Amino acid sequence: MRIALTGADGMLGQALMARLADHDLCALTEPSFSLEDREGVLDALAGAAPEWVVHTAAMTNVDGCEQNPTRAYRINAMGTRYVAEACARCGAGLVYISTDFVFGPRRMRRPIEAWETGDPLSAYGLAKWGGERFVEALAPRWIIARTAWLYGEGGTHFVGTILKKAREGLPLRVVNDQTGCPTYARDVAEGVDALLQREAVGWFHLVNTGEATWFELARRTVELAGLDPDGVQPCTSEDVARPAPRPAYSVLSTLTYREATGGDLRPWSDALKDYLTGGAGEERRPSLCPSPP
Ligand SMILES: NC(=O)c1ccc[n+]([C@@H]2O[C@H](COP(=O)([O-])OP(=O)(O)OC[C@H]3O[C@@H](n4cnc5c(N)ncnc54)[C@H](OP(=O)(O)O)[C@@H]3O)[C@@H](O)[C@H]2O)c1
Repeated sequence: MRIALTGADGMLGQALMARLADHDLCALTEPSFSLEDREGVLDALAGAAPEWVVHTAAMTNVDGCEQNPTRAYRINAMGTRYVAEACARCGAGLVYISTDFVFGPRRMRRPIEAWETGDPLSAYGLAKWGGERFVEALAPRWIIARTAWLYGEGGTHFVGTILKKAREGLPLRVVNDQTGCPTYARDVAEGVDALLQREAVGWFHLVNTGEATWFELARRTVELAGLDPDGVQPCTSEDVARPAPRPAYSVLSTLTYREATGGDLRPWSDALKDYLTGGAGEERRPSLCPSPP
């Protein structure tokens, strides 16, 4: 299958490049591919002529989005609109990678179903939610695949930061009042592949199963690395004020993914162990698509 991949050199993009390597892949990356350039996006995707576009590219710095919401809306919402328009023009299906941050305060503490309506708290969440709306309105066939709390090879992420600080012997205070689904990027790539193979469409949550607070994730990371987990201490969100508010509870239900594929991604603790003990397998760098004329 011919697949165009935006953000191919990002953390998830690299995992997808490796997982989808048997397909005819077209990697779209900055600076030749910019989500801020509508004509460029339309031309690049017309030139690539894919059957599916997997759209991972985004402004992912959550606090940066809060400080510059206009840029976040331009890249994450409008940029996704251009990708969806391009899919409509060339008849391609669109896999849009979205986030648990499209959800806000929950009345009930239960996993959020994939078809629920977003109520974002942050500019990043609102921009990604806007992207979802455009995908639904414009793309001829679509998968909205929300993931969360990602870590993986070739990226900057919480797990890596915790490990670095723990190895340096720095004190670690980590919030214990936000609960979500820690997820290995490599497993998300496996989930995207599974959905494409089954020709699934609709809303899905691609997360490792189970739930944890950031504090629990940090402790487990340190423990699996053979360091002292008691070096990690809990704190509250108020103790570490940040520009963008985060949802207190954003555990994602995997019901629609399970129905479509017959299984779940593995439990987060198993995936984390695999990542930390080097079971990551081969990585593949993207081969770039030619720039549009
Ligand atoms: N990381 C998480 O915890 C998390 C959680 C839930 C959902 N997600 C979603 O998962 C997707 C992948 O995240 P990730 O962690 O792999 O992010 P990442 O490593 O930051 O990669 C993002 C990619 O988007 C590209 N990009 C940024 N701005 C662009 C623009 N204006 N035009 C074209 N490309 C642009 C980046 O290119 P440059 O590097 O050249 O700027 C990079 O290749 C995103 O859609 C994100 O919203 C992430």
